[in-house]
Amino acid sequence: MENEARKKRIFSGIQPSGELTLGSYMGAIKNWVALQDEYDCIYCIVDMHAITVRQDPAQLRRRSVAQLAQYIACGLDPQKNIMFIQSHVPQHAELGWILGCYTQFGELSRMTQFKQKSQQHADNITAGLFTYPVLMAADILLYQADLVPVGADQKQHVELCRDIAQRFNGVYSDTFTLPEPFIPKMGARVMSLGNPDNKMSKSDPDGCVYLMDKPEEIRRKFKRAVTDSETAVRFDKENKPGVSNLLTIYCAATGKTMEEAEEEFAGQGYGVFKPAVADAVVELLRPIREESERLMADKAYLESVYREGAQRAQYLANKTLSKVQRKVGFAAR
Ligand code: TRP
Repeated sequence: MENEARKKRIFSGIQPSGELTLGSYMGAIKNWVALQDEYDCIYCIVDMHAITVRQDPAQLRRRSVAQLAQYIACGLDPQKNIMFIQSHVPQHAELGWILGCYTQFGELSRMTQFKQKSQQHADNITAGLFTYPVLMAADILLYQADLVPVGADQKQHVELCRDIAQRFNGVYSDTFTLPEPFIPKMGARVMSLGNPDNKMSKSDPDGCVYLMDKPEEIRRKFKRAVTDSETAVRFDKENKPGVSNLLTIYCAATGKTMEEAEEEFAGQGYGVFKPAVADAVVELLRPIREESERLMADKAYLESVYREGAQRAQYLANKTLSKVQRKVGFAAR
């Protein structure tokens, strides 16, 4: 128990704005699973972030719960980690408002993801999309997280979070732990099967494999994966981005090293290689899909997990929030 208290805290989240993909698994969730014993981990389903662009309500509701089932099916233990749905813990919105008053308009204007997303959703550039990084800062700071495992695209947001925390601490004395982005050593950056220059994205159905895809679907997607006109199976990110991506996936799915994989396919063409990658992914995802399906049939269990998660999260969040409220000068209740 003494050691328990000294574990570093980790916070991370994924938006339920689409179905989880092989990229979410290999790039994030698989690492989360590896961290669950060594760290004190909080994994969130960030539905409030998801509504910064328009969502179908029924889909969002279903996906938020399905995402929890998939977290568990991937190996995240609800006993070891706090897992919850962001909107169930209103402290996120409350702290978000306060932190927004300690964030500069100019800082938010410089966020690259805002610039990108406001181009993609030019007809719906909301204040929520603009202040999204403030809500993310609240997510992290509420729990005094030390480390935030994120992809490279989120690093700027974690840095802004640090700046906000530092500013607040400077004005009101130490309140927040300064978090660090945590880009784990292992974990694969999985690219789109159709356009290997882009990260695999849940909004690109043909270029991504969903955790819930059936074997035939997975095989079809790998069959169509972009390669190149050479025939050699070797890792060369510059000149063979498609094949390199498939090799990365193959290694992550089988646990083999790149050398072992290259050797295995030496002298063989893509006609042998691609189906082998597909098979490895089919076998990797089969138990995850089956377990998710089983859990989805047990709504009462999932409900108990996210309710308990929200309760545990609220307990921690409240400690930070009440401190902050007092420091900024809100009257005692
Ligand atoms: N913005 C993150 C993404 O889109 C999701 C997210 C929200 C998050 N809050 C967070 C990630 C807090 C880490 C920590 O990927």
